Amino acid sequence: MFSTLLTTIENHICTRTINRPDKLNALNKTVMEELNAAIDEVYTNPAIKSVIITGAGTKSFVAGADINEFIGLSADEGKALAKKGQDIFFKIENASKPIVACVNGFALGGGCELAMACHFRIASENAKFGQPEVTLGLLPAYGGTQRLTQLIGKGRSLELLMSGNMLDANTAMQYGLINHIVPQEELLNKAKSILETINSKAPLAVAKCIVAANAVFDETKNGYAVEIDSFGSCFNTEDMKEGTAAFLEKRKASFIGK
Ligand code: COA
Repeated sequence: MFSTLLTTIENHICTRTINRPDKLNALNKTVMEELNAAIDEVYTNPAIKSVIITGAGTKSFVAGADINEFIGLSADEGKALAKKGQDIFFKIENASKPIVACVNGFALGGGCELAMACHFRIASENAKFGQPEVTLGLLPAYGGTQRLTQLIGKGRSLELLMSGNMLDANTAMQYGLINHIVPQEELLNKAKSILETINSKAPLAVAKCIVAANAVFDETKNGYAVEIDSFGSCFNTEDMKEGTAAFLEKRKASFIGK
């Protein structure tokens, strides 16, 4: 069991709540280790079809990496910390099940990076996004320079990265960083309703959507070729036969994930 993560699984939707509200849910070593193990479980537990990541309390999603743990690090230790964080966030990004960030307040530094590693983001009205690392003499290193630029474009990204300024939810929406803004008390229900729709679709096809969309940003891959291969492989699945048959027979498809 985890000491910094709360977990519920309901209707195959696993909600992971980062639970250090007195420290605005800052990502210390324990949170990162537990998040890593929690994502491993998402990969392997068939009872989990999709995931919500959120923060405890009403003020903060995650206010960044835990700054206390930066004190006294050497350059090599800083690099190792960044690599570990990037690896965990790659694991989130490349999961074959949808992972949604429910941003319930501050998403700063590593918190903004965590939200961006998720497949999409829903925010409460009080959400604030930013990469304030330059204020500390640092830059984002859990993938933030890359994913922020992918999501909102280079000019807007560099302004945020270099100024450390925060975006409110409305601006984040206008920039395309988040998909929806809802009152805080509706945040989890909004995500659950979207995930229930996704969970009713063919899981292997959903997984292939993630693979193909991620290929856009992977220089080692040709996304169009990935799309062709993914489409072809779906024809080998029982779910594709079921989905097309159900359409033609005017009934609801029942998918088994094979
Ligand atoms: N690392 C460690 N502790 C953090 C933290 C972080 N990233 N962010 C907040 N905390 C802690 C504070 O130190 C404080 O702890 P304390 O009560 O023991 O002193 C507690 O969380 C509450 O934060 P506080 O600063 O008092 O709240 P606030 O409402 O005045 O300000 C923020 C909120 C988010 C603006 C402010 O906490 C902040 O700037 N945090 C750092 C953001 C950051 O630079 N993130 C990138 C890190 S790489």
